[in-house]
Amino acid sequence: MEKARMKKLCLLSNKITKSIIPIFLIHIISCSSIDGEVSELVSSMTLEEKIGQMTQVDYRYLADKSDIKKYFLGSILSGGGSTPPTNQPSSWVDLYNGFQKEALKTRLKIPLIYGIDAVHGHNNVLGATMFPHNIGLGCMNDKTLVQDIAAATAEEVKATGLDWTFAPCVAVAQDERWGRTYESYSEDSDIVTELGVASTIGFQGKTLNKNSVLACAKHFVGDGNTVFGTGTNWYKIDRGDVVLEEEELRSKYIKPFKESINMGVGSIMVSYNSWKGQKLHGHKYLINDVLKKELGFDGIVVSDWAGINELDKDYKTCIIQSINAGIDMNMVPGSLNPDDNSYDDFIRLAIESVEEGSIPMERIDDAVSRILRIKKKIGLFDNPIKKPKNTDVVGSKKHRELARKSVRKSLVLLKNENQILPLQKNNSKITLVGEHADNIGYQSGGWTIHWQGGSGDITPGTTILDAFKSAVSDSSNIRHSKDGGDLSNSDIIVAVIGEKPYSEGVGDRDSLHLSDEDIRLIEKVKRSKLPFVVILISGRPMIINEVLDESDAFLAAWLPGTEGLGISDVIFGDFDFTGKLSMTWPKSMKQIPINYGDSSYDPLFKFGFGLSYE
Ligand code: GLC
Repeated sequence: MEKARMKKLCLLSNKITKSIIPIFLIHIISCSSIDGEVSELVSSMTLEEKIGQMTQVDYRYLADKSDIKKYFLGSILSGGGSTPPTNQPSSWVDLYNGFQKEALKTRLKIPLIYGIDAVHGHNNVLGATMFPHNIGLGCMNDKTLVQDIAAATAEEVKATGLDWTFAPCVAVAQDERWGRTYESYSEDSDIVTELGVASTIGFQGKTLNKNSVLACAKHFVGDGNTVFGTGTNWYKIDRGDVVLEEEELRSKYIKPFKESINMGVGSIMVSYNSWKGQKLHGHKYLINDVLKKELGFDGIVVSDWAGINELDKDYKTCIIQSINAGIDMNMVPGSLNPDDNSYDDFIRLAIESVEEGSIPMERIDDAVSRILRIKKKIGLFDNPIKKPKNTDVVGSKKHRELARKSVRKSLVLLKNENQILPLQKNNSKITLVGEHADNIGYQSGGWTIHWQGGSGDITPGTTILDAFKSAVSDSSNIRHSKDGGDLSNSDIIVAVIGEKPYSEGVGDRDSLHLSDEDIRLIEKVKRSKLPFVVILISGRPMIINEVLDESDAFLAAWLPGTEGLGISDVIFGDFDFTGKLSMTWPKSMKQIPINYGDSSYDPLFKFGFGLSYE
């Protein structure tokens, strides 16, 4: 693809003024010089050094950081919640440099590359800007803003010294029972493709360069369309089986990856799920033949977290199958359980597999070349040690304003009877009920500071309650009765209900009905006979029929992140609602999965629905 893209650019350059051609030639020369350098480096490497480059370890599981040198490790990651003891930008830079210095002690001084899940902002980092999760951005459906969000996130990632984010997720979620629905922009492949590409450009720039944060389109392929009940690893649907025919797999699910490759995404993460019973982590046809050969992907194919382990009960078999299928880097990631396979096992067995001929050396050389090429393109060989500069960009006012704007544009108004919204800023006694009204952890969702997210003030931000208080002329008119026990002296009630944080298969559900706690809360509100508005905080559409009927107004806020002011901006009328559903809203569990284009399609709210004040 690199060559095909260059050919296209070359034709284009003929029409461009002379001043451009040298720039273009610099690009051609730099790529071919990188190829030359990489090929020379690979030819000088031992097998141990090569396999080390293909090994990625979560820093928490390093037996000792000197193992980076001992095993020539090529990559470190921080999985969800894998943070330094003091979780602040300068500590991240110190952590990074400590590991990088170990890598630079090796014979060839090949720098390591450090990856992290910056999936809705730099969300492992305390004080970072937490943007709305992707489902909200899909309802916003503004590719320019999505690109800006990724660019802002990249600034915060770089301020902590890191190189690589495992984002964007370009899953096309079809079944809301899936715990990763909120990581998907939409059920519509075109929206996913457009926003996924925009996000990649925001992280990397138009082409990979020394200022890029390496992006990672994930998870290849079909993770949003597994069959309920086929989940693995005790999950109900996550990591399950995709049964589609190849034509639809290509047109709907491979499409976002194809366009991301055309935009130069530098890495792709393989998915845990299977296609027609075959695990993607061992799928040579889809990885090697389709992704690499047919689509011309020349970046790094990285496994998911211990993703190769699910291929077989014998670890060496897993290694052989996955590397021969086209995986270039194994996210091992390590384990505290001595019975689990760790990076030393992977390295030993991979070397054994090559020496016995089960894995061809050219496959290893291809994998290592891809890894080194990316490291050179993003400047790691030139500047491996990071200086803690402009760390104040993390959680900056500018980024929080950007997040606030994206929250505004992600909200979807589902009902507004008798124009009860917008609320009045003056002389209106508003009582908020529900735990979600004053809980940064709940409004941020999973992948926030901790893998599964958390509750309460887990990171600096503005709760919905605080946002309401700052929006009105007299904050004493705003009260919070968490359990709805005291609704006296109120003109109107705002019930903030919904889901508590989860990530991945932990969020798989048989039922998407509101919790009993929320139902009881709404019952109390109903008995007060006061008008009431519902704000739903959730990672997906839920079954809301009764509450919707009983409420005067109802809005979906999804998982807005730290900037609750975006909600008060709209609910008090400073801005109008513009969000439109990027996912169909089902009437009942029986309808799920339900997506526009289905033969029988009678949802509660259709794909694209969204009211406004106008
Ligand atoms: C997880 C997720 C993947 C994430 C990786 C590293 O299991 O499936 O999206 O990037 O591990 O945290």
